[in-house]
This record gives sequence, structure tokens and C-alpha cells, in this order.
Amino acid sequence: MRRAGGFLRDSSPAAAGWSAASGTAVAYWVNATGMPGPPPEYGSHPFLHPGGRVAWTKDRLEDAARTRLGGAKLIVVANREPYIHNLRDGAVELMRPAGGLTTALDPVMRACGGTWVAHGSGSADRLTADARGRVRVPPDDPTYTLRRVWLTPEQENGYYYGFANSSLWPLCHQVYHRPTFDPAHWAAYQEVNDLFAAAVLEEARGGPALVFVQDYHFALLPRLLKRARPDLVVAQFWHIPWPNPETFRVCPWAAELLDGMLGNDLLGFHTQYHCNNFLESVDRTVESRVCREGFSVTRGDRTTRVRPFPISVDPDFAGQYLAGDWEAPVAALRRRYGLGDRLLLLGVDRVDYTKGIPERLRAVARLLDLNPGLAGRFHLVQIGAPSRTNLPEYRALTDEIHGLAAGINERYGTPAWRPVVFVNEHAGPELIYPLYRSAAGCVVSSLHDGMNLVAKEFVTARDDEQGVLVLSEFTGAARELTDAVLVNPFDVDRLAAGLLAALTMPPAERQRRMRRMRAQVADHNIYRWAGTMLSEASKLVDHGPRPAAARVAAPRVYVPADDAALLTYPA
Ligand code: F6P
Repeated sequence: MRRAGGFLRDSSPAAAGWSAASGTAVAYWVNATGMPGPPPEYGSHPFLHPGGRVAWTKDRLEDAARTRLGGAKLIVVANREPYIHNLRDGAVELMRPAGGLTTALDPVMRACGGTWVAHGSGSADRLTADARGRVRVPPDDPTYTLRRVWLTPEQENGYYYGFANSSLWPLCHQVYHRPTFDPAHWAAYQEVNDLFAAAVLEEARGGPALVFVQDYHFALLPRLLKRARPDLVVAQFWHIPWPNPETFRVCPWAAELLDGMLGNDLLGFHTQYHCNNFLESVDRTVESRVCREGFSVTRGDRTTRVRPFPISVDPDFAGQYLAGDWEAPVAALRRRYGLGDRLLLLGVDRVDYTKGIPERLRAVARLLDLNPGLAGRFHLVQIGAPSRTNLPEYRALTDEIHGLAAGINERYGTPAWRPVVFVNEHAGPELIYPLYRSAAGCVVSSLHDGMNLVAKEFVTARDDEQGVLVLSEFTGAARELTDAVLVNPFDVDRLAAGLLAALTMPPAERQRRMRRMRAQVADHNIYRWAGTMLSEASKLVDHGPRPAAARVAAPRVYVPADDAALLTYPA
């Protein structure tokens, strides 16, 4: 037994080819090939791990949703819809958006059923939905309902591009990008939160419901829902970091945001550190009682529990893209960009200034300066999905990346070899998983990231137990994937050393690290995330008769921060 990454691990082979690794915080089993699974003596029980610990699977989540929700509706609210219909050349085309949230939550909804309320942003979304904006999804095997909310261009501009992505996004990510605060954006943010409240209340009519709100687009929604329907159980997961209180307090509407979030019964962040920051922010900003032992806040007569729930992915998802002739899309990409059979370093990101893409490119230049012998031996393939392109800083970043890639290729490349290939397109799982599986290494160099699911997806794709993950220590994922090559992306030498490690690490060392990371993600999967969060929230579901006072949300009225607890919403 030895201590590694904070856990006790036993690497001695056990009976029938299974080896056990157990620790105080986690316990998992891996078989002879490193695939996670139950040991033989537990094989007959679908959910059991050794020591009686229960594994989270899709089936167990389905089971939990059925028994724990006891008939209450599950309503997920997220700005981004999991399926977008667009018109292209006169035909309707289905698009799966890039971004961790939809990738993570779609399998949860497939397992649990219910309704997902989201902004209908596609050009053919109205065409494919009914009169109330509803469409059953996934389109090929419908298991849940997508309820689309229609926004005007002005609302989308003020709420999504404005307050959510020009104020809250830079405010919460400490990447030295100054947030802007525009009262018109704030007004649109309030208006759209009202609009979503009305849609959720309509979907929740007629019985108990658990509303699971996603992300920073809806800080005000929990309070709106509770005021209209105190019997609803409302939980929210904040998918991005929560900054320290000094940073947060510059927001002119800090108190209103906190008051809105304290409408939740349960509030989740990726890490304990973000929970601590949130409690600190509450303590300094609004009238409330903060309990640091029980990790909860009581404001007025309501209590919000605040807990870490590290999000993850479905470990089995990769399998469907790594069957049959899975190498064909990679071969096609190699031909398209003249990559030959050279080693690939891979980046997969939305083009966002939090992701550290320019830093990654500078590290490639540094790597070639320090190791001229690597010239002509590898490529950095950067898949960069266009994102939030209405915002000038995102367009400027795209230009910067194109410029950096061209400069590096000009300086270090030859007519037959371009070190950096920037694919500035949306790419689907049918290309990304084979790329993950083929790459020598995957580079995640975020400057600040709540979790980063690319890191976890990469690990799930490596059923060959090869491939090196180079991971920024400023991601939530770095706390779990301690066998990655951890780097500080602001330190060009360390990042270059990480890239070198990915190109040169001996196979046995790659296997040792990948095996552990795969076991971690297999156990701490998306079903565990959803299962534990929904189980905790569902304890609060009251299946009794609904209070007669229930009514739909009305326009909000703002009052000075410290009186916010007294705020009333006229019917
Ligand atoms: O996690 C933050 C987030 O905004 C998620 O909501 C989403 O998965 C991702 O970033 C992509 O962003 P957008 O929905 O703005 O394209």
C-alpha cells in the first residue's frame, strides 16, 4: 500500500485478475486491463463497490429519480439547449452545442426524464417545436421534453452577451479580464429571469416539482420561483468558479444576485473553495446567518445549503464513438491538414479567453526553441469551436490565435510541416473522441476553469490506457486528476515542459497514470454528480397538497439590498 494523490492505493493483484485500490475518500476496483468494474464477489449486484459502497450508474440514477422524486416533476433550467435546430440551405439541421453543461446534463435527463427549459436559439427551433415551444428529445430516441423560451435579439444581447457574459463571466473567472456593468444589460438579465420563471411555473403546474437551475444566467430565478411557489424544491448548480469576496463586491448588483441565489434550497459549486468564497460573499453583503459548520445560509425564514458537487462525464459515452472504423475521421483530418503520421498534441476548447489558448501556442514555440530536434515530429491540433462571437473580445481572441498560429508556422515550420493547426470550427463527438483516442497528449491550459470536462472526456476515451493529460492546475479537474501532468499555464517553461512530457513519457508511466485517472472518472461520473445532488434536494420534496396561494411570477421590484428580504412581488 502507498499513498498517492491523497489516497491509499493497493496495487497488488487480487484473485481472478482483479486488483483493488481503496482509500479513505474513494474506493474503486480495476480489472487486469485497468477497466473499472465490480470485483467478482460483487458481480451480481449492479451498483455495489467493495465495502458496500454504491457505484453510480445510469440505471441507479434512473432508479433514484423514480424512487426519490416519488412522482415530482424534474425541471432543469439552463440557458443553452441540448439540441439546436438550424436552417441550412433550406434544410433543418440538428446541432449539439459545444460546452460542458449540455454534454454533462443530457445523459442525466435521458436517465431521469422530465423537462429542460432553455433559450430556443436555433434558426429552425420554432419550426421544430409545438406552439408552446416544446419538442421531445433526443430526436432519434425521445426520453424528455425540451421547452424552448423565445428571446428577442435585444433580450439576448442584454442578458446573454451583456450581463451573463460581459459582467458575470469575467467577474467569476479571475483571468484579468475586466468585467463591464451596464444598467441596460442588468435590466435585460432581470427581464429574462422573469421570462424563464413564467415558463418554469407553467411547466410545474399541478403538483410537486424539483427545479434544477443551471449556471450564472439565472442567479435571480430561484428567488422568483420560491416567491411564486414556496412548495417547489429549487436547487442550483453554478458551473463556473465563485470569486473571492473582494472581487465579487465590485458588482453593482452583488446583493441582488446573492438574494436571488438564496432562494435556493440547495446550491452547488464544483469545489469547497468556491463554496467558501460564496459564504464569505454572503456574509459581507447581505443580512443573513451563515453557518460555517453546517455550510448553510439562513436569510429571513429560508435556509440554503451550500455544497461542493464536482461535475463529471458519462464514462461510457466515448465507447459509441470508438467502435467500428473509428480511425477513419482522424485519417481524414490528417489528410486534410497534411499531418502525415506525426504525433498529435490536442486542444479542444470553445474559443474563450479563459482557456489559455494563446499561452498554449506560445509554449509550442518555447518547446521548439528548447528542443530543435522536435521540429517536424509533431503537431498541435487545436480544435476551437467559435463561441460568443457577437462580443468583440471573443472575435479579437480568434484573430490573436490565427495570428499566433501563422507566426509560429512561419518561424518554425517548413513547406511540408506546420507545427500548429488551428481548426476554428465546431466539431462533433464523432471526430473529437477518435482524436482523443489517437493523440499523444491532450492539453488543457485554462487560466481559470470551474471544472473542465475536456480533461475528463479525454480520459474516458483512452481505453488503451495511453495518452498523457497536460492539465492546468487552475481547473477544478486538477483536484481529482492528480495523475495528469499538472502545469501553470502562465509559466511558459512549465507548460512547454508539460508538452515535452506528453511527447516523450514512457508507455509504462503513461499507463500507470491513465489507469488511475480512468478509475477516478469511472467512479466519480456524471451519474454520481446528478444522483447525489438530486438525492439531497429530493429529501425536501413535499408530496402533500399544494398551497392555495401558489401563483405565477409577476414583474420584479427591486429595493435596496438590505431590505431585499422584505421584497414582495405583486400578483
Ligand atoms: O460552464 C459555463 C458555460 O457557460 C456553460 O453554461 C456552457 O456549457 C459553456 O460555458 C458554453 O457556453 P455557452 O453556452 O455560452 O456557449
